[in-house]
Amino acid sequence: MQRSETENRWIEDAKEYAKQLFALTGASHDFAHTMRVFSSAVQIASYEPECDHTAVMLAALLHDADDHKLFADSGQEHARSFLESREIPAELQEKILTAIRSVSFSKNRGRRPETIEGKIVQDADRLDAMGAVGVARTFAYGGEHGRSLDDSIRHFHEKLLLLKDEMNTETGKQMAEERHAFLLAFLEEYEKEMNDMTQLKPDHLFDPGGEKL
Ligand code: NI
Repeated sequence: MQRSETENRWIEDAKEYAKQLFALTGASHDFAHTMRVFSSAVQIASYEPECDHTAVMLAALLHDADDHKLFADSGQEHARSFLESREIPAELQEKILTAIRSVSFSKNRGRRPETIEGKIVQDADRLDAMGAVGVARTFAYGGEHGRSLDDSIRHFHEKLLLLKDEMNTETGKQMAEERHAFLLAFLEEYEKEMNDMTQLKPDHLFDPGGEKL
């Protein structure tokens, strides 16, 4: 599908808007996260012929624009004001805002997005919480909120390991497999190293000759 010049301009403007909005947010939810979600969403959308690609792209770029973890409860003010400022048609605006509302895991536990655009952006956002990037972001978020390593590890079990079975699209499911496997491998190694540490006797750790080590 060929996008019009106007649509391309909306997408470029939305990138610029997100870049400014996330200039001061921590590494776990920065502009690079938005761009990775955008890129995964574009990839998934290419296998979903019935979706509105422009809506997917704009929803991906604006999906965290009003995240309650980042901004004081703004409803959908940021996303809405951006869409209005670009005079995007009301029907498309509604499609984008609906998709964004359905993305959040914590608010929608057990509920699936109803629109294909929402399903795609939610899958893309979840993929960024998995794999090596997911590990890095979890500890970055933990650091931003003064959490212990164990608290971050708990987040793997409470949320990240569940994501694989909650993907909406076939492409999302396939992309999630490898990332899920990496999460399991990381946890296994982490627990192994932690257990090795607790099994070491103090005199091994502080042996002056160093030979036992
Ligand atoms: Ni996100």
